[in-house]
Amino acid sequence: MALRNILVEGDPTLGKVSRKVTKFDARLHELLDDMVETLHDANGAGLAAPQVGVLRRVVVVDTGDGVLELVNPEILETSGEQTGLEGCLSVPGKWGLVTRPAVVRVRAQDRDGNWYEVEGEEMTARAFCHEIDHLDGHLYTEKVDRFLTEEELAELLTDEGEDA
Ligand code: CO
Repeated sequence: MALRNILVEGDPTLGKVSRKVTKFDARLHELLDDMVETLHDANGAGLAAPQVGVLRRVVVVDTGDGVLELVNPEILETSGEQTGLEGCLSVPGKWGLVTRPAVVRVRAQDRDGNWYEVEGEEMTARAFCHEIDHLDGHLYTEKVDRFLTEEELAELLTDEGEDA
């Protein structure tokens, strides 16, 4: 396993659409292992493959209940609405308020290609939307209600925060 370099806003790769995964081989497993290690090292809640320069539809999410690996994820259903704090490992030092669905049901493949469904609420629902947006070349900064002010940011830094 190895840490991968996380691309930051302004890198053209982050604006591109990722391709579907068709081979569930050792190379994919290595990518997933590296992404999980990179996510945990950066204290994040989610990471998408394009953020480490790989334009494939691969996402890892860990909002505190263990790691979820999502290959070729698709949103099946959403309900409700939540407005909350969001950051991104590719947009360091910024935080914003973003409105997302409250509950999100996703269909994805595991690392061996088996389809499964998973439902997320709160942070997990937010992470599913945020990471799947990355696969289509979108950053949360495009849909932010507003960014936090310097004062709000300073206050936040005394608490615990997570990037996605
Ligand atoms: Co992000």
